[in-house]
Amino acid sequence: MEIRKIDQLSFEPFIREEEIQLAIERLAKEIAPAWKDKNPLVLVVLQGAFVFAADLLRQIPFSVDIEFIRVKSYEGTESSGEVRSVMGLELPIIGRNVLIVEDIVDTGKTAVYLRDLLIEMGANHISMATFLYKPAANQTDFEPEFVGLKIDPTFVVGYGLDYEGKGRHWPGLWRLISEK
Ligand code: IMP
Repeated sequence: MEIRKIDQLSFEPFIREEEIQLAIERLAKEIAPAWKDKNPLVLVVLQGAFVFAADLLRQIPFSVDIEFIRVKSYEGTESSGEVRSVMGLELPIIGRNVLIVEDIVDTGKTAVYLRDLLIEMGANHISMATFLYKPAANQTDFEPEFVGLKIDPTFVVGYGLDYEGKGRHWPGLWRLISEK
């Protein structure tokens, strides 16, 4: 089994590309009928969602507006839960049906922050498609509507997700090997 390292941390293969692509195909089939008449504004949350968004959105056959936003909330391998800023929200939100595309819902705090911000900005309808969801880590009442894969609360990298900015480009998902 190939082990990859980032700094002192070791990661083992977790979910293969083939499995991820099947999950995304299924997700696109759930999203497309539900959103085709909603003139969606898709907000892709950078940087983590860039790989997922590229694969998912190419399977959506109708036209959508796409914006890329940045939310800073994570340091190291534990979510701080503190969302510090949002950048890139430029199109008017008022009255729009917004589909947030995220890499992962962990504590849920980023999702709640974004939802509340978009409500405040006058969005008509808000929903989220997340590549990964760690239900056992969610500390909020937020439940993502469209989920690619549910995972246990372990730390993962690859397919857009990083550790300290590294590992985003690794194919498939890799799981942190615990030192214990
Ligand atoms: P939340 O606010 O705790 O739900 O965390 C959201 C953000 O934390 C995600 O958008 C990711 O950037 C980051 N994050 C959470 N879990 C992981 C992980 O296992 N690997 C890499 N980043 C993660």
